[in-house]
Amino acid sequence: MTNRDGRLAIGELAARSGVAPSALRYYEEVGLIHSERTSGNQRRYPRATLRRVAFVRAAQRVGLSLEEVRAALDRLPADRAPNATEWNAVARTWQRRIDDRIAELERLKERLTGCIGCGCLSLRKCGLYNPHDIAGRSGPGARYLEEDEPEPAKA
Ligand code: FES
Repeated sequence: MTNRDGRLAIGELAARSGVAPSALRYYEEVGLIHSERTSGNQRRYPRATLRRVAFVRAAQRVGLSLEEVRAALDRLPADRAPNATEWNAVARTWQRRIDDRIAELERLKERLTGCIGCGCLSLRKCGLYNPHDIAGRSGPGARYLEEDEPEPAKA
């Protein structure tokens, strides 16, 4: 799969990472990954780029922006494969965001069966938790997904 020098051509990087060559070129354009050019002007990526690409994808799945990803990856050496300590340092910068995301998903999982205060008033529970769409008074959107669990309205 790899070239004699261990570096990957863009097609090989795409095949192994599962990311389209166009997306890899974009990642390079915005500074998330780096390549060198052959005498024939073809891109060649160090094998460690596979981990950077995997990190970019994982970060996007937890809702981090490409700017946040680039700021974190910029801490890593561009001229060699980062070691575990360096990767840990990057992961720590995201810890808080990942914890917040986990809490958000937990809340979503808990509340999707109940009234989420979205204003639809379509569930029986809405009459109890969101009579006359009182949730709408605190702002737009599914208020009970954004805020703490409401108390049932007093009969
Ligand atoms: S679920 Fe929409 S208002 Fe209750």
